[in-house]
Amino acid sequence: MEVSAEVEGSAVVEYQTISKHQLSAKDVVVIDTLFEALRLRDPATAEHSLAMAYYSYLIACEFDRENSKLYYLSGLVHDIGKLAMKDDVLKGSKVLAPEEKEYLKQHVIEGVYILERLKLPELVVQVAKSHHERYDGSGYCEGLAGEDIPLCGRIAAVADTYATLIGGRPYTGAVSSSEALEVMRRESYLFDPDVLEWFIDFVEGESKYLSYFKTDELKRLPLAAL
Ligand SMILES: [Fe+2]
Repeated sequence: MEVSAEVEGSAVVEYQTISKHQLSAKDVVVIDTLFEALRLRDPATAEHSLAMAYYSYLIACEFDRENSKLYYLSGLVHDIGKLAMKDDVLKGSKVLAPEEKEYLKQHVIEGVYILERLKLPELVVQVAKSHHERYDGSGYCEGLAGEDIPLCGRIAAVADTYATLIGGRPYTGAVSSSEALEVMRRESYLFDPDVLEWFIDFVEGESKYLSYFKTDELKRLPLAAL
């Protein structure tokens, strides 16, 4: 069954109910509202989330097409737990101290807490929970490795890392797309090899297309047109 919703000025324009991960009209409004709250609290994290959502969607079109639009929605709120983080850690311009890095990891727990309470589809919760897991087991919050990490987490890890590198951090600045891919190649043991290989091939083949869509345009881009 296909349904649609219009939210003025929203990142969410159209969506589909999905048999495995049922999505209601209310879910879409809830996700959009959470995203707007994040944008008001920390525009940089919202901008990053928009880019991450788009890359997740692109990868999911190859690896989990049935749920690809839900990946986009999940990406918008994958860092929603950052709403609970202190300003000096969330928005600071210095390299984080080890204890601050440890504190920031809590955003995963806080995000899962928020999304579960709202009874959003399981995939939305899973993306928030597993986007910092790493293929070699070095990630968090459960330290899963390989295919013990759900597919959505393996997709989110690639999309999130690329979006973080090209978007930059306050204390490191952004890198070019080719530099970001080089970093990810060097640290390929952190990612699902199939997902990473596909994504690198895609970005290198479509780099002009990707650079055209700055995130401002993405926010206005009808999801149905992707
Ligand atoms: Fe995160």
